[in-house]
Amino acid sequence: MEQTINRGLDGVNIDTSSICFIDGAKGELIYRGYDIRELANKASFEEVVHLLWDGDLPTREQLDGLRSQLSRSFGVPSQVFDLLRSLPPGVDPMHAVTSAVSQLGALDADADAVEMDNVRRVGTMLLAQFPTVVAAIQRTRQGLEPVEPRSDLSVAGNFLYMLTGEEPTAAATNVMDGALVLHAEHGSNASTFVARATASTLTDVYSAITAATAALKGPLHGGANEAVMEALEKIGTVENVEGYVLDILSRPGGRVMGFGHRVYRVLDPRAVVLKEVSRQLAEESGEGKWFEMSLEMERVMEREMEKRGKQVRPNVDFFSASVYRMLGFPAEMYTPIFAVARVAGWMAHLYEQYADNRLMRPRLVYEGPRDKRFVPIDQRG
Ligand code: CMC
Repeated sequence: MEQTINRGLDGVNIDTSSICFIDGAKGELIYRGYDIRELANKASFEEVVHLLWDGDLPTREQLDGLRSQLSRSFGVPSQVFDLLRSLPPGVDPMHAVTSAVSQLGALDADADAVEMDNVRRVGTMLLAQFPTVVAAIQRTRQGLEPVEPRSDLSVAGNFLYMLTGEEPTAAATNVMDGALVLHAEHGSNASTFVARATASTLTDVYSAITAATAALKGPLHGGANEAVMEALEKIGTVENVEGYVLDILSRPGGRVMGFGHRVYRVLDPRAVVLKEVSRQLAEESGEGKWFEMSLEMERVMEREMEKRGKQVRPNVDFFSASVYRMLGFPAEMYTPIFAVARVAGWMAHLYEQYADNRLMRPRLVYEGPRDKRFVPIDQRG
């Protein structure tokens, strides 16, 4: 019997959801009815968290409530810092994030309850703790002590503060906040699917978020932003961009990182916003080279993909690389920063999943033999 196979689950609907809508042909991304381009310019990350988790933008009172809940949860147990110090100095920061989230679960005596009250409690804790953990990872890598979170700062401001111990400028906080909004949610992407599939076994939130974090790490997903920056560093000058791109495209299966998407056939709307942010930072920071190289890469890729009849355009990870560079972040921290934002989306999906769960259990079409007979080990050869 002919069986349908959707490799990479391409085009498969696993459920209904009211969180996020993507129109890949038009380049539209909608969080709960609101266009991302409007949210990126007008809403704070905390407002977007409320939107994703509770279905609409918060009133002033609701926002204050969420902010005070988060600020009470920014701290993490000291054992997490001990764990981070015990990891090898050159550890991939995403391994450190995954280990820390798993440890937070191990330290929470009520981790396992998946009733909605507890799921929300853990979700709020994790959203607040991710920036603290990621900043501590970066400090530990630099041989520095973690900086205590401040309860009077926003998630974005607090994250920047905990990286350096200095109060961030309003402009830097604003850029960070916008980046968090843009990365907060993206439907059934690989890590969110993994979060939902893991939760569908009715395991706990920490386990589902640990799994999601592990999936985000890969270079075809969240790891692409780091790969983009590594490429830009390797290329070094605008003049070298064309040769670099052509060399990659000449190899079988060669991929230029930060380009292409399973859903978008036109420019990713998040890349549209980040491109403008990158342009502005380039003017202000005197580090314009990263933006200039990105523009050249976009130009060469557009020409080459058009020649090949392929619709491969920059995705969110492409311009976020130069933006983060101009904010002063090292490339290895880009994917952990992605996780700081995406935990908002992962949790929104876990609320949906636990509220109306069905175990995810797809199938594989078996193509191996079926008629072998067991041969005792001494007779095999
Ligand atoms: N560079 C060169 N060619 C590409 C690229 C790229 N980055 N992306 C896709 N193509 C080509 C690909 O070779 C294929 O050609 P052909 O049909 O001749 O084999 C065609 O475009 C379609 O690609 P695909 O592999 O079928 O697309 P997919 O939906 O399976 O993969 C993707 C999507 C994101 C994995 C892929 O575009 C890719 O590897 N991009 C680079 C990594 C990257 O930037 N990932 C971040 C994704 S967006 C944010 C996120 O999720 O974190």
